[in-house]
Amino acid sequence: MSITTVGIIGAGTMGNGIAQACAVSGIRVVMVDISDAAVQKGLATVAGSLDRLIKKEKITQADKDAALARIQTSTRYEDLQAAQLVIEAATENYELKLKILQQVDGIVAPEVIIASNTSSISITKLAAATSRADRFIGMHFFNPVPMMALVEIIRGLQTSDATHEAVKQLAVALGKSPITVKNAPGFVVNRILVPMINEAFFVLAEGLATPEDIDAGMKLGCNQPIGPLALADMVGLDVCLAVMDVYLAEFGDSKYRACLLLREMVAAGRLGRKTGRGVYQY
Ligand SMILES: NC(=O)c1ccc[n+]([C@@H]2O[C@H](COP(=O)([O-])OP(=O)(O)OC[C@H]3O[C@@H](n4cnc5c(N)ncnc54)[C@H](O)[C@@H]3O)[C@@H](O)[C@H]2O)c1
Repeated sequence: MSITTVGIIGAGTMGNGIAQACAVSGIRVVMVDISDAAVQKGLATVAGSLDRLIKKEKITQADKDAALARIQTSTRYEDLQAAQLVIEAATENYELKLKILQQVDGIVAPEVIIASNTSSISITKLAAATSRADRFIGMHFFNPVPMMALVEIIRGLQTSDATHEAVKQLAVALGKSPITVKNAPGFVVNRILVPMINEAFFVLAEGLATPEDIDAGMKLGCNQPIGPLALADMVGLDVCLAVMDVYLAEFGDSKYRACLLLREMVAAGRLGRKTGRGVYQY
């Protein structure tokens, strides 16, 4: 199946990023959110991002105009009927996603593939709630979408080979490098990344080194672009803790227990950059 129009549900951080990636690659987009204000904000973010690419001489004004002309915005799910693939990138909430997916499932044609950009909800479980479990898949983009090369493609237990192939081809058409992952909490990247951040808190709690030296060690010794503690401050310590607690609950393996220091810092409201203080002061 050739995908020429992609429907996107949610015009927030991820939704507008996915819209931009599609539009600059020549794919038409229908981007839907709950209000005009939300879709206009998403569209303005894309325009601003394209302006920065013009400044860096990566694209021309004509490229920007053509990309924006490919993005149709709407507040009606009915407008998703133009798409061969719908990517759900709405707020991370199971009940909300279930409601959206069941509504959209009843509106778009049976052959349309539906994907979710969820970071933590089971693709198998979401697929089972639709009438097209074999045409349901996870497409986990990374933030900021226009810059990040990776897309994790998550196969639910029911996902068909044809669905997997179509979505993989689309990811490549967007200039991304997809990897294929079986459905499991954290998929691949966050499954490895978040326990590593948690381990950095154990190292800090044991007083093995200062935060600065722990981060410098991982940057200089492992070529990581940012140290794990500085990264925790960026992601949000509450998000890191919530992810560890999901792993512990889902896998039932004590290797996923959150470091007590991480839990204490969250309880104290030291959530990272967003609260002005985490491991570091901002
Ligand atoms: N932010 C990240 O770094 C990141 C990375 C990978 C995956 N994700 C996942 O992507 C998804 C979106 O995250 P985000 O960071 O873009 O969130 P966000 O809060 O920036 O955007 C979510 C958007 O969904 C819209 N929305 C809410 N209910 C809706 C509905 N019923 N219909 C249509 N739109 C609706 C909101 O108005 C909002 O504009 C989540 O599932 C998240 O877990 C986020």
